[in-house]
Amino acid sequence: MQRVLKYLLIGVGGLVTVVLLAVVGLYAWSNGELAATVPQPTHAFSAPTDAAAVARGEHLVRALAKCVDCHTQDLGGGTMIDDPAFAVLYAPNLTTGRGGMLSGYSDAGLERAIRHGIARDGRRLLVMPSAEYQFLSDDDVGAIIAYLRTVAPVDRDPVPTKIGPIARALHAKGDLPLFADVGVRHAEESVPSVPIDSTVEYGKYLGEIGCSGCHGATYGGGKIPGTPPDWPPPSNLTPTGIGHYSFADFQRALREGVRPDGSNLHPLMPIPATKLMTELEFTALWKYLRTLEPREFGTR
Ligand code: HEC
Ligand code: HEC
Repeated sequence: MQRVLKYLLIGVGGLVTVVLLAVVGLYAWSNGELAATVPQPTHAFSAPTDAAAVARGEHLVRALAKCVDCHTQDLGGGTMIDDPAFAVLYAPNLTTGRGGMLSGYSDAGLERAIRHGIARDGRRLLVMPSAEYQFLSDDDVGAIIAYLRTVAPVDRDPVPTKIGPIARALHAKGDLPLFADVGVRHAEESVPSVPIDSTVEYGKYLGEIGCSGCHGATYGGGKIPGTPPDWPPPSNLTPTGIGHYSFADFQRALREGVRPDGSNLHPLMPIPATKLMTELEFTALWKYLRTLEPREFGTR
């Protein structure tokens, strides 16, 4: 009996040791990954300061690229996820107030953060949707910076971001895209503008910088990898998903958050931003979505 107990204890002890070693290994590896820096792209960038650029920038920040969705409406920053086992994730203060990071950034530094997902110290930013923002034209990323420089200072200290054991394990498995610079064409120095018009081409651009991050590059919809279980999967926006919509239905969905059958869209769909879009923008996006290849739901 005693012998059985002894072997059992050795067995359990061994198991505990293996688990502990795995956790220590996971933390050592992911701490290394999180602290790693990458070379900054070297191309020059300077933003305009004229009133037209500032106005375009405000529309991009609030309606099209939707920075406010994470960095909050006053751009003073806020908590995105507060679950210590998973992650405490904070979108920082983008103003010149106390706790804000804007004053420490040059125009080129901001272009790197937005389009390349790299902080001014070379750290790889977490979660910033740079894989989509890399498609922002030089004019538009310049306009965003021009607007940020005019925003009223907000005094709000950031909460330190902490990546917990679950997010680390998911990242190690390859199921959680943590780093913003993955999939970015770093060699690309310049992105030409798409003429602003109610064309398929401009609709494609609007989708790249404002919809595909959630609905998927193919617009087939499905769960955003690594998001908490209570986040609903974005819908299929190809003809198999919204083929029954009319243009009026589409506009109503994006302005009021209501489907043609009267059901409400979950607040993860950013209606406070999309309701600010113009008739021209709705038309361009609608024309583009109609050209998409039908996809099965979930094939994002
Ligand atoms: C999906 C959420 C999300 C959206 C949308 C988003 N950001 Fe961020 N952003 C973050 C998070 C989270 C961080 C902090 C990342 C880190 O510290 O590793 C961040 C960091 C930044 C930084 C670097 C700040 C620093 O501390 O060095 C800048 C600059 C920035 N964002 C600008 C923007 C702009 C401009 C837009 C819109 C074009 C935008 N972000 C849209 C989540 C977001
Ligand atoms: C932050 C993530 C996010 C972004 C960005 C986003 N969506 Fe959505 N969208 C969602 C989610 C989640 C749903 C599903 C909501 C639900 O299940 O109630 C949805 C639903 C929809 C629907 C309803 C379709 C249906 O009948 O089920 C339409 C239309 C739509 N989105 C269009 C767009 C367009 C166009 C854009 C870009 C301008 C966009 N979305 C950007 C998350 C997003």
